[in-house]
Amino acid sequence: MREDGLLAGRPGPEDAAFEAGLRPRSLDEFVGQDELKERLSILMEAARGRGEPLDHVLFSGPPGLGKTTLAAILAEGMGAQLRATSGPVLERAGDLAAILSNLQGGDVMFIDEVHRLPRAVEEILYTAMEDFQLDIVVGKGAGANSIRLELPPFTLIGATTRVGRVSAPLRDRFGYVARIDYYRPEELEAIVERSARLLGITIDRDGRRAIAQRSRGTPRIGNRLLRRVRDFAAVRADGAVDVAIAEQALEVFEVDAAGLDRVDRAILEAVIHKFGGGPVGLSTLAIAVSEETQTVEDAYEPFLLQMGFLQRTSRGRIATALAYRHLGLEVPTAIEQGKLL
Ligand SMILES: Nc1ncnc2c1ncn2[C@@H]1O[C@H](COP(=O)(O)OP(=O)(O)O)[C@@H](O)[C@H]1O
Ligand SMILES: [Mg+2]
Repeated sequence: MREDGLLAGRPGPEDAAFEAGLRPRSLDEFVGQDELKERLSILMEAARGRGEPLDHVLFSGPPGLGKTTLAAILAEGMGAQLRATSGPVLERAGDLAAILSNLQGGDVMFIDEVHRLPRAVEEILYTAMEDFQLDIVVGKGAGANSIRLELPPFTLIGATTRVGRVSAPLRDRFGYVARIDYYRPEELEAIVERSARLLGITIDRDGRRAIAQRSRGTPRIGNRLLRRVRDFAAVRADGAVDVAIAEQALEVFEVDAAGLDRVDRAILEAVIHKFGGGPVGLSTLAIAVSEETQTVEDAYEPFLLQMGFLQRTSRGRIATALAYRHLGLEVPTAIEQGKLL
């Protein structure tokens, strides 16, 4: 079996169990993103004041930044039940109709990966979101009948890693669209501190900072690294984590000082060694590193772009001078002089 990169891979069963215990349950426990929290608490208070369900909310941003967590917090804050599903699971209009027609007033329906809803399913969402009505077609051919069901007022919370792939008619039906950005190092430090406290891990400030710096702005990754460092400290030391232990542990797990894991580096190396520095198309690149295109696009590329290791051009991805230097390679003159950019 191919070993995943430690950092950007999709959450596995181990993450799920571990994350359940660390998931913030209220906006107060949710670390960082202060402006977003402020807006969400205003939205909730206003809706409660009107005695109405919360407006439909769309969260966008890379994986692991807290979209699912926030959906649960909003439902909890509204005293509502959360019904969770996801775009790819809702294959037919009937799948969605079944969930919608079972909603109770004020319920929150959470659709993860909402950009992957099939078109036919998405279309029945429009009137459901706008007028709390469900138009469904019963029967086939000449005997087909369209019937209209009234729905109780509910809240739709959508999450997406690709807001550009959410169609305009769907996007426009959300009352509030929130982009969640990568976390700042001090926010990640606070998240690592909170998780360490909940898990009973002894870790000093510099140890927390070492983990935060390599967490690629992502709470899920900070928690994942903390777990690996904890294992290392238990086996190779007395369990307590300081900066030396953290750095040694991360080296063992092939996470470098910039927070790149082996897949990140494989991507940069492929662009440079297999494709002459680029430009190379994303799907070709994904095949070269034996990853799914979607995974490279959602989980790896955004961070490599953000760090300035990769650049996106109309003809494909190219490696930047920073990437060559990071890998300890000589920067080709043309790139140094910006001729390819
Ligand atoms: N702001 C935050 N404060 C503390 N922990 C967080 C925060 N955001 C995310 N997490 C942690 O990261 C994990 C992943 O968050 P999640 O909501 O599943 O991300 P997403 O849905 O965006 O992929 C959660 O289990 C939670 O423990
Ligand atoms: Mg999620």
